[in-house]
Amino acid sequence: MVTHEPSVYDVVGIGFGPSNLSLAIALEDLGGFVGAGPVTAKFFERQSEFGWHKNMLLPSAKMQVSFLKDLVTFRNPYSRYSFVSYLHSVDRLTQFVNNCDFFPTRQEFHKYLEWVASYFTDKVSYGTEVTAITPLQGEYPGEPIDGWRVHVSSVDNPADSYYVDARNLVLATGLVPKMPENFVRDDHVWHSSEFLGKFQRCDASKLSHIAVVGAGQSAAEIARHCYDYAPNATVSVIIPSYGYSIADSTPFANQVFDPEAVDAYYYGEQQAKNDIWKYHKNTNYGVVDDEVIRSLYQRKYDDEVRGVERLQFIELSRVTGVKRSGDDTRITVYSLASDQYRELDVDAIVCATGYESMNIGAMFGDIDGYFKRDSQDRYRLERDYRLITSETVQAGVYLQGGTEHSHGLSSSLLSNMATRSGEIAQSISENRFYAVTRELMKVGRG
Ligand code: FDA
Ligand code: NAP
Repeated sequence: MVTHEPSVYDVVGIGFGPSNLSLAIALEDLGGFVGAGPVTAKFFERQSEFGWHKNMLLPSAKMQVSFLKDLVTFRNPYSRYSFVSYLHSVDRLTQFVNNCDFFPTRQEFHKYLEWVASYFTDKVSYGTEVTAITPLQGEYPGEPIDGWRVHVSSVDNPADSYYVDARNLVLATGLVPKMPENFVRDDHVWHSSEFLGKFQRCDASKLSHIAVVGAGQSAAEIARHCYDYAPNATVSVIIPSYGYSIADSTPFANQVFDPEAVDAYYYGEQQAKNDIWKYHKNTNYGVVDDEVIRSLYQRKYDDEVRGVERLQFIELSRVTGVKRSGDDTRITVYSLASDQYRELDVDAIVCATGYESMNIGAMFGDIDGYFKRDSQDRYRLERDYRLITSETVQAGVYLQGGTEHSHGLSSSLLSNMATRSGEIAQSISENRFYAVTRELMKVGRG
């Protein structure tokens, strides 16, 4: 075991996806609190390099937010880390404008994110996983918890483990793939989050039957990709609805992603929160962009004209079981319309069955008890995304994600990231002053 010298950071970020990348910029923008020097930060990222949902970087997939909802612009339109600045740096600004499209491809946006991440390599340890967090208590009895010890290990060599200390943690570990009950992932049973990697390992020309489950954006994009890139395969699309529903991105509905909507949600009564979900869930979950719906329908129609049926829709149905034996995969599909089960033999099943929210409890382990819960056992948060703790805790824990219940629909999305990161950076900076003061008082006492 290699033990590295521990250091104390003002901020340790767990995960380095878009959320914490955006925070790294916000902290840099902030400089430091007057008289207390620059805020020190370190991020740990499990992947070996920067990557944003890489297994869903399908060639034609578009972004679902405007390019202006990048990592910075809504907070600081002068930032050098904007999407426009990226376009300028790669000499593509004119062409982008000529293209008249607010929504770049996911592949282009990924290049932008990588470009920004390249400026922060000194702040990130890639290929490292945070495995546990333990509290740091003051040296005198009854003193509060004023820091966290963050236990880290190398992904390639878990024996290479060490720890760093932090005054504040920012958790941004992302969504967790959700499979149908009792489904175990393997070479033939995939979740959408691993799609491209698994698909590219197959000889696509030899695939004869692929099932794609779900009626959300992932499912529709994957169905289209399978149809286009597995030319001899029948693609069975298993959807719980009668047809895909459109993602509402019209201007009034889109206001739920505005920075101001976070206040409306956070300070709103529980009934208002419930109503926001009821009326606006269709801006994001279980819905598909108009362009993808139309392009799939066109393929189905063209098939009909040609007298083939390579794209099959099994509507009002849910997948309920899977049996695996060698290379054979048999799935069970339940029809809500006929109340009947049927079985299908497939080469692969792709479960585009969505995600769970960030798994915070798993990360906390023993320290979980310090964090206050509401009547529905959900974490309580301040408006600045800081978890509310018992009084014995002075060190901060902030969440980027996992706050749908307190801060609303944009919590797991890019839409409000620039603003949220700024709010978190500001809060950390203000609290830093008090932390530094406390440490100076301790030195004086010693
Ligand atoms: P994200 O999941 O991106 O990053 C979390 C990081 O934490 C990962 O890199 C992971 O490896 C790391 N990590 C996890 N546990 C760790 C540990 N213990 N130690 C170290 N590292 C750890 N939203 C939107 O607004 N517009 C869009 O166009 C899209 N498009 C989109 C496409 C697809 C395919 C999906 C699945 C989702 C979207 N989203 C989206 C929503 C999506 O959640 C959002 O775009 C960001 O990924 C959120 O960024 P985060 O950094 O919070 O999580
Ligand atoms: P999602 O929107 O949660 O959709 C999951 C779908 O799977 C739902 O239709 C769900 O139906 C269905 N489902 C679950 N279990 C099922 C079962 N057993 N049988 C049949 N259907 C089942 O998930 P997603 O499509 O992965 O989208 C997640 C997020 O990623 C969204 O924010 C989305 O916008 C984003 N995304 C963006 C892009 C892009 O930017 N281009 C691409 C992909 C995804 P029920 O609700 O009825 O269970």
